[in-house]
Amino acid sequence: MSNKNIIAIDGPAGAGKGTLTKKLCDYYGFTGLDTGSLYRAITLYMIEKNYDMDSLDITKAINATKFISDNHEILEYAKNPKIRSQLTNKYVASVAKIPEIRQIMKQYQIEFGNNPPNLPDGSKAKGAIIEGRDIGTVICPNAPVKFFITAKPETRASRRLKEYLDQGESASYQEVLASIIARDEADRTRATSPMKQAEDAILIDTSENNKEATFEIAKKIIDERLTII
Ligand code: CDP
Repeated sequence: MSNKNIIAIDGPAGAGKGTLTKKLCDYYGFTGLDTGSLYRAITLYMIEKNYDMDSLDITKAINATKFISDNHEILEYAKNPKIRSQLTNKYVASVAKIPEIRQIMKQYQIEFGNNPPNLPDGSKAKGAIIEGRDIGTVICPNAPVKFFITAKPETRASRRLKEYLDQGESASYQEVLASIIARDEADRTRATSPMKQAEDAILIDTSENNKEATFEIAKKIIDERLTII
């Protein structure tokens, strides 16, 4: 049976999509998919296999994506903390703009939305939350609930810097801010599936709302629109 309870969450880097997704999944018993981790996993795989990331051979990149998707290695890479390193950050947007790679990932995301995997305790998921850049526009255009989460670049850079420092990676605020702005620009202006707020998505700015307030705004809308049993 195809799942009808799908929530699409899009927005730029460091806006708080992951935090909101986790809180909503815990509250409603939904399974979440961080689609950025898939593009990051492909990027990390190629970095580790010593691909020339500065002048990427597109055919090799597509073949690598097919290979790690077919044998499910992508899911192992997606769990590797190195997917969040600054090196992966530097190259992920150039990998994610390749249309054939997006097409391969699209099938996986649609399947996840239709049949969300069980919850960590083995019970059946009551729905799916998919977060990324093009979920409300391209992957799940019919999702009954869509959010576009954003925040000022400075707020997002401060949050990201804290995450790096907490993980023991050294970084400066100026570097992180520049990298976030560059990645947002690449994501917004690419030809295939650019980051875009769907017309029917609800905009939440997390520079003005803390985690709890953001959750409450989202919860109110979900309770109005979905029947979760
Ligand atoms: O964690 P952060 O918000 O920095 O980004 P992410 O969600 O992990 O996504 C990393 C990168 O993957 C983005 O900058 C995009 O280039 C790409 N991405 C994408 O193109 N489409 C998605 N649905 C998700 C991520």
